[in-house]
Amino acid sequence: MTPSKLSVRHLIGIKDLTENDIDLLLETAIQFKEVLQRPIKKVPSLRDITIANLFFENSTRTKLSFELAEKRLSADIINFSSSGSSVSKGETLLDTVQNILAMKVDMIVLRHPAVGAASFLSKKIDAQIINAGDGTHEHPTQALLDAFSIKEKFGKLKGIRIAIIGDILHSRVALSNILLLKKMGAEVKVCGPSTLIPKYIESLGIKVEFNLMEVLNWCDVANVLRIQTERQELQFFPSAGEYANFFGITKKTLDQLKKKVVLMHPGPINRGVELSTDAADSEYSIILDQVQNGVAIRMSVLYLLANSN
Ligand code: CP
Repeated sequence: MTPSKLSVRHLIGIKDLTENDIDLLLETAIQFKEVLQRPIKKVPSLRDITIANLFFENSTRTKLSFELAEKRLSADIINFSSSGSSVSKGETLLDTVQNILAMKVDMIVLRHPAVGAASFLSKKIDAQIINAGDGTHEHPTQALLDAFSIKEKFGKLKGIRIAIIGDILHSRVALSNILLLKKMGAEVKVCGPSTLIPKYIESLGIKVEFNLMEVLNWCDVANVLRIQTERQELQFFPSAGEYANFFGITKKTLDQLKKKVVLMHPGPINRGVELSTDAADSEYSIILDQVQNGVAIRMSVLYLLANSN
């Protein structure tokens, strides 16, 4: 039987979660997804809990779905974006957070461009921390909502073949997905240009495939990642057009495969680069299901962490 409490106090990364933690998070999200289908979508679970959403990097999906999840759970919330804040006057991350905590905040949701920012804060402050993406490192709630979406489609994770395709080097989504899927017994391969595949990848027990059609014919799920130009100081491929020629996926590519592949993408999509519009919007795609599931998963994370004290 799955225990009813998480083994962690913060959600810093998938690396800290046990198989039981992941099962509990996914099972609890099923119940919250059911709540979200009701006419009255609000439950009192986090009444009297105050949550600060601190975004030092841009976000649409993660920011809005955390905010909605908190509102659905009846938490009190405050939102902070580094643009327009006193960060521009030189205030440090720790000073910013300690000032916000002085206003009596219980939980922090943090997105930050620096690898390790959430882990650093968790060692300095008493409030619970949820990592909403730290640089190129981890994005645990994205991996959880991706796993939830795959399990919803196939009924299980064990034995399902998942290809993670694209800019693996700069992707926190790739690392969190790999760690979660391996823990839960799925088979994972990565595919992309050799310049965008990190050297350490095989040490994670992952096979690398450089041929897009080979990996697409192998997998049940293609999780296609965005080319992260904002994190690329060097030129990793000649042009967006060249990338699309070798690794871009169109509906025609998907139609040619031996079996029907489920198409995923964490968003935002570079349409015409990693995915064509006709692929992104096709019957293969569960991209908007992923977004919908993000709210239930974040409700599950917030609820279980609030009850892990
Ligand atoms: N998938 C994801 O993290 O998207 P946002 O950057 O819009 O939050």
